[in-house]
Amino acid sequence: MRIRLEDVTVKFKDRRNPKNEVIAVNHVNLEVPESKLICLLGPSGCGKSTALYAISGLQELTGGKIYFGDRDVTKLDTQERKIGLVFQNYSLYPHMTVSQNIAFPLKNAKWKRKDIEDRIQEVARIVQISELLERKPAQLSGGQQQRVAIARALAKNPEILLLDEPLSNLDAKLRRSTREEIRRIQKTTGITTIFVTHDQEEAMTISDEIVIMEDGRFVQQGLPQEVYEQPANLFVAGFIGSPTMNFFDGRFEDGAVMVGNYRVAAHSGASGAVTVGVRPESVRLKEDGLRVKVEIVELLGRERVCRLRTETGELLTMITDIDTLVEEDTQISVGFSPGKVYLFEAESGEALARI
Ligand SMILES: Nc1ncnc2c1ncn2[C@@H]1O[C@H](COP(=O)(O)OP(=O)(O)OP(=O)(O)O)[C@@H](O)[C@H]1O
Ligand SMILES: [Mg+2]
Repeated sequence: MRIRLEDVTVKFKDRRNPKNEVIAVNHVNLEVPESKLICLLGPSGCGKSTALYAISGLQELTGGKIYFGDRDVTKLDTQERKIGLVFQNYSLYPHMTVSQNIAFPLKNAKWKRKDIEDRIQEVARIVQISELLERKPAQLSGGQQQRVAIARALAKNPEILLLDEPLSNLDAKLRRSTREEIRRIQKTTGITTIFVTHDQEEAMTISDEIVIMEDGRFVQQGLPQEVYEQPANLFVAGFIGSPTMNFFDGRFEDGAVMVGNYRVAAHSGASGAVTVGVRPESVRLKEDGLRVKVEIVELLGRERVCRLRTETGELLTMITDIDTLVEEDTQISVGFSPGKVYLFEAESGEALARI
């Protein structure tokens, strides 16, 4: 089922100062194509959960419209929207077995006993918990509980699956395997899914498309590779990628972009101050480049992560392959890979060019 948000806004009264308004979701538009998984990604407090609850019907809109397919669902109750919801704390009923947990929404919907039994077997197979059906939640690992929560959400055959930070209670390893699991389940069922997370790596690996949210607004929507390679602004550039992109104050001089005394590349068409961004993997050793001191070198499997400091005191990160020898407490000179340098308008942070 396709999802469309049209100019959706949600405002709250400020808890501390009721005269003030918090605009948690600020005039956002969104298209989620049928059978795709999109991640709503952004820092804490940017409005992700509020946007998701608005789509679920748990949160009333201040303005705008929501469509599932061609149907306007803006005024529909959550129960009428045919969605499956999974929250951060899986909220399973502790006194019920897995099987009873999954059956619960179906009983409420007055399904026949035989149909309920069949459906439990079916969703248990999809999320691979068939052998756990008679256990209580306390007898399951975090990842297994999470799969039960997803099974329960899928039980009523929803047309849309909404997940709010479903992996945040899991340790790193379980997070990885459970997110692969969610992706597999989503692909097998073909269910249109919105997955909320503040973890950019999670979003990059699981999504068909990513929507990046900043301060109530959707600042960019695109394929994972697009938001990585063509960030719309400084915020997206800094939020996506780990270690994060390096930023420098730059300026245009004689038809070139300069960082300190280092001539980054020829570029014309703009003037004045600019922010120069370069990802750690696009920093490399170069004679006559930017002079830096090597402060820390970390060996990370096949690569070296080097923390460098410029003569003007700015920190930057460089990633090199294992064969490039870089030693701590030495002076080196680095350059930026051509075509991999991002220019942003200093004031607004809007992307200007990649050179
Ligand atoms: N019921 C409410 N009343 C008043 N303000 C609220 C309410 N719910 C959320 N807010 C505010 O709206 C903004 C967005 O909150 P929201 O929970 O959607 O953020 P989030 O992106 O999900 O954050 P997190 O990653 O921490 O879960 C925050 O400033 C929050 O304080
Ligand atoms: Mg949230």
